[in-house]
Amino acid sequence: MTGPEFQIQAHAKVNLTLEVLGRRPDGYHNLVSIMQTVDLHDRLTFAPAAGLELACNVPELEGEANLVWKAMCAVQAATEAKHGIRITLEKRIPTAAGLGGGSSDAAAALRGLMRAWNLALSGDALMRIALDLGSDVPFFLYEGTALVQGRGENVVPLPRAHMDWIVVLAPEIQLDGKTGQMFRLISPEDYSRGVLSHKLAGRIRAGSDMPPQFMFNAFDSIADRAFPGLAACRSAFKSVGAREVVLSGAGPSLIAIAPSREIGLAWQLLLKSRGMRAFLCRAWWPDPARALPG
Ligand code: C5P
Repeated sequence: MTGPEFQIQAHAKVNLTLEVLGRRPDGYHNLVSIMQTVDLHDRLTFAPAAGLELACNVPELEGEANLVWKAMCAVQAATEAKHGIRITLEKRIPTAAGLGGGSSDAAAALRGLMRAWNLALSGDALMRIALDLGSDVPFFLYEGTALVQGRGENVVPLPRAHMDWIVVLAPEIQLDGKTGQMFRLISPEDYSRGVLSHKLAGRIRAGSDMPPQFMFNAFDSIADRAFPGLAACRSAFKSVGAREVVLSGAGPSLIAIAPSREIGLAWQLLLKSRGMRAFLCRAWWPDPARALPG
């Protein structure tokens, strides 16, 4: 890296829908999901260094298991770039919460490394590296609103969904190997065919509103059993006034679309007053002029 240090924001996502179609021969599952980035974000700072360095405000996340570290190694392997970099990761998105924080950090690292090391990988190559890092990483190379299919590699950007305020309740419930566990628990009765997601994608394309009743998450049917205490969080969310409450990703975060900022703020404050970790988020889209991969 030769230029001055710079920063990139890594946004959290919510799943407006998440349908599981079935298990694939490779052990993964085919999905259809509408994902949406929100303004809650981590921040990555890229600075010159002799070798590869990763610092984080959460010391447990500084190791080689971090997807940012894996992204640095993957880019070096793909390009034979032997430059150094110091990435400082400022975490604000709750980890292992279903909000895609680690995946978003990885995509931001890929974007930042292209700039810092002046690399020009093709969109296809970048998407391949992203998918190797994790099924949610390809979406974060796009951000905004998108229809995501396959394992996560098939990302079709959608126009801006007509929605604004989203309240996220992120319970501090940890489950080892959470995403894998949740996919193991899901059974064929929970499978669907993606009709709901395609219907919502159609509405978004047509510029219609985004009725909260369209939200759906296949993991909702097993989440209250898998995450101890989640059912109580869900009841609390409903008791403050949110009607449609669904899981984000493989959980345990719960989301609800708020009809206005004021109502969203009231929900957030009421949940916080009950000792819960809640965020009032706004849907977030990248600059439309930003180049997309592929
Ligand atoms: O790709 P990622 O590392 O995020 O996936 C974690 C685990 O979740 C996988 O090992 C797999 O068991 C499961 N998974 C799946 N189908 C997907 C995505 C993830 O079965 N589309």
